[in-house]
Amino acid sequence: MADTGVVELLLKRIEVVDGGVDSQDVAITLSVDHQVVVGAVKSLQSLGDIISAEQRSSKHWELTGEGQETAEKGSHEARVYNAIPEEGLPQSELMKLPSGKVGFSKAMSNKWIRVDKGHEGGPRVFRMVERIDDSVQEKMVQIQKGLANDVDEKEKNELKKRKLLTEVTVKSYWITKGPSFSTTITKQETELTPEMIASGSWRQKSFKPYNFEALGVALDCGHLHPLLKVRTQFRQIFLEMGFTEMPTNNFIESSFWNFDSLFQPQQHPARDQHDTFFLSDPAVSHEFPQDYLERVKKVHSEGGYGSQGYKYDWKIEEAQKNILRTHTTAVSARMLYKLAQQCLQEEKKKLAKKEGQSNKKKRGGKRRRKRSEEAKFTPVKYFSIDRVFRNETLDATHLAEFHQIEGVVADYGLTLGDLMGILHQFFTKLGITKLRFKPAYNPYTEPSLEIFSYHEGLKKWVEVGNSGVFRPEMLLPMGIPEEVSVIAWGLSLERPTMIKYGINNIRELVGHKVNLQMVYDSPICRLDS
Ligand code: PHE
Repeated sequence: MADTGVVELLLKRIEVVDGGVDSQDVAITLSVDHQVVVGAVKSLQSLGDIISAEQRSSKHWELTGEGQETAEKGSHEARVYNAIPEEGLPQSELMKLPSGKVGFSKAMSNKWIRVDKGHEGGPRVFRMVERIDDSVQEKMVQIQKGLANDVDEKEKNELKKRKLLTEVTVKSYWITKGPSFSTTITKQETELTPEMIASGSWRQKSFKPYNFEALGVALDCGHLHPLLKVRTQFRQIFLEMGFTEMPTNNFIESSFWNFDSLFQPQQHPARDQHDTFFLSDPAVSHEFPQDYLERVKKVHSEGGYGSQGYKYDWKIEEAQKNILRTHTTAVSARMLYKLAQQCLQEEKKKLAKKEGQSNKKKRGGKRRRKRSEEAKFTPVKYFSIDRVFRNETLDATHLAEFHQIEGVVADYGLTLGDLMGILHQFFTKLGITKLRFKPAYNPYTEPSLEIFSYHEGLKKWVEVGNSGVFRPEMLLPMGIPEEVSVIAWGLSLERPTMIKYGINNIRELVGHKVNLQMVYDSPICRLDS
């Protein structure tokens, strides 16, 4: 809201002058800040046609600090000239004067002074002329008086080069009377009240129009946590590579899908209380695809599909135990099983159709065909990024929960080369180009590869992920066609986030010790830069 006093004074000034006034001049006459006058202009403009104001900019010359000194005490060269007595002055002493250095060379080129080098006791400076005209000072005084127009443009630029003058641009308004000019302004109403309607007084009032250009008050809005920003980037990379996101909205999983379906034996240490969180309520799951469960049991205890299995007594009770999922590979297992079922169903439909046809033609012959001819398996590329839980000892880089990023590709005849190639492609999109692979072990992959990348900051190879080709003992019981291979890899979301945002302790990234200012201030994430 503009100062109403200033608004009135401004209107009075406009009333008495012919033509118009400049807002800068008004500010000087009213001895208020120019911004105050601009505020008054804006608020008058919002009232309609009381005034008209045109923005303009003008330039004027101003003296610098050194320029003001020159106007007062004379130019450096004049001050040097004036400091020299009849009998001259040793040059070394002259140089010690405040204007010495600049003044000496200017006075020399003006031929106001001369140096006697052969003088005993060192070079001595003498006046060369009787009197001098300090035109620099004269011009500065003139400009100071506001008579800059009387000084030649070229000379002003010369003085600007000497840093005695600066040219200042000022923006101001040229204000003139508007079509409905008046020195008294009635305050416009901003609200239509029930009283105005009841009394009919609204008819006489003038209402302030809505200002649709006004910017709203900045909202106190939410901020994305760095993990979410990095997740968005990873998701983008997968989508660019043609991957589809898997549904990961179940933190609770049965041991069956988390371990057994992945050919992880029931005695495996990861299935211990020390590594995995078990649920007490509900402690067990009951619904499993029965025939698939039987095949899983068999491959663990007796083997099959060319495998010897683990040769132990597989127990349903162990598989039923509910846990907080320890990896998102449990979701991948569910998805691959579902995919195999779809493929089997299509295969059945096709077989039935073929049988129908051959019956019609009354042709007997071989009914059972090789599966691969019938099974139309559609290759897939899946990914997920979600939370997993492990009963870990907490330290600077480990929490009991973290996020896993997982990629899965299922297609005919995929090899280890495909896995390494796709990992190169994936990590290149993250800005990581130097990769190394190390043989590793996972119960569900063979071969398995740990992925290392060269960390330019740490100057060493750091582990960035784990990967492998899913075992036949995992895929075949699901019903995935024999010729189809599935390659997969996983990494944590926290590690790249900590590297990206320079966070050394995971407790500063997740949990109650997170500094919210860090969340507010973290920029968006660009992984490749
Ligand atoms: N599930 C593995 C882990 O938790 C990661 C992984 C995924 C390994 C897929 C191989 C294949 O570390």
